[in-house]
Amino acid sequence: MNKSVAHDFDAVTEETFTSMHETFAELRSKCPVAHSNDLGGFWAVLKYEDVVNVLKDPATYVTSVQNVVPKVSTTGRRPPLHLDPPEHTPYRRVLDPFFTDEKMEDLRDRVQTTIVNLLDPFIQKGGGDICEEFSHKLPGYVFAEFFNLSKEMSMTIRGVTQQYVKALHVMDKDNIQKYSQELYEIARRIIEDRKLNAYDPSIDVVTAYLQKTYKGKPLPDELILGTIRQLIVVGMIAPVIFMGSISVHLAENPDVQSMLRKEPSLIPAAVEEYLRLYTPYRGFARTAARDVEIGGRTIRKDEPIAVVFSSANRDEAVFPNSGQFMINRPNIKDHIAFGSGPHRCPGAPLARMMFQIALKELLVRTKHIELAGDITMTRWPEWGAQSVPLKVDPA
Ligand code: HEM
Repeated sequence: MNKSVAHDFDAVTEETFTSMHETFAELRSKCPVAHSNDLGGFWAVLKYEDVVNVLKDPATYVTSVQNVVPKVSTTGRRPPLHLDPPEHTPYRRVLDPFFTDEKMEDLRDRVQTTIVNLLDPFIQKGGGDICEEFSHKLPGYVFAEFFNLSKEMSMTIRGVTQQYVKALHVMDKDNIQKYSQELYEIARRIIEDRKLNAYDPSIDVVTAYLQKTYKGKPLPDELILGTIRQLIVVGMIAPVIFMGSISVHLAENPDVQSMLRKEPSLIPAAVEEYLRLYTPYRGFARTAARDVEIGGRTIRKDEPIAVVFSSANRDEAVFPNSGQFMINRPNIKDHIAFGSGPHRCPGAPLARMMFQIALKELLVRTKHIELAGDITMTRWPEWGAQSVPLKVDPA
């Protein structure tokens, strides 16, 4: 990385709930393609239009070198995120049919029951850390349903993922390797089990990968392993942070709590606005395949670029009064919390369903929610609150 490039912003300072967005707002107006020497050195593309242009040009901006900032020493290629089209395509073809409206309807009751079972004890005891006690567990339980795994297996994955993410946040390379290998081992066990006990491929994503052929050949074992290793982890991280950030907003805005309790039909729209305002990912990355110019800055071949979804979603040119929570913005469907282009999040329908149910059940089961202590913020590559102590009054 070229260290002679200007250092426009710090990416490793302690953050508050508002500080990074203030920095992004200033950078968008003065220096919308900014460079930081932190985290190994990287470019941050901050304006909506530039982010979308990068995401839609996978030939120039590849994911196969580094898929997040900071770069994690990779222990293997993990489709679909680590591959560029056209190699990426067969892995998405298997995955996308598992997130149709019909599939989501099949899961809905089980997700609802899981959420109620997790929320009830939390609310009855008057609250606690909603991230630790609710949203850390939620994706683990939902994944058990989605991947046809036992709850024990899913919670083991959650535990290892938690350690893996902690190691990532402090760039503890030994533990990143250790927990990544443990996740590979878990993926290997799931695949071995499905080889012995194949499920119907229309209801089991692992069996579907094992039975997929592309251009007349099965997918390579090593890449199926990488895919399952990717899938069991990729949807575990953002939901924790996102639920934490929603909770901070609700606690600081009792009027929003009352409005949504009175009119639960507004909850899907509220979730969309929260996705825009509190986008939990800022550091997904691309690498320039050749020298390029964006926003007047020259980015050299092989330099890493963070596509900062959290900043793009607050770009005033697209979302006026972008720091405000406004339900039913006319162009809310244009937010890119789930990305854009070939790597756009396939799990978005599942994530939306989880949050709509979680928000509704949290609000109907409580009269009032407030902060009961200091929140802790996460670091790159996520953005948001990862620990939120709440006091809740049961309804
Ligand atoms: C709040 C929740 C979530 C958010 C904000 C989110 C966001 C994203 C974003 C921004 C990307 C694009 C990355 C890029 O362009 O480099 C992505 C990719 C992906 N997400 Fe999600 N995600 C969430 C939940 C989930 C869930 C629940 C699952 C699975 C069950 C999931 C599975 C994936 C996969 C497999 C990819 C890689 C797709 C590809 O490379 O083609 N995500 N996600």
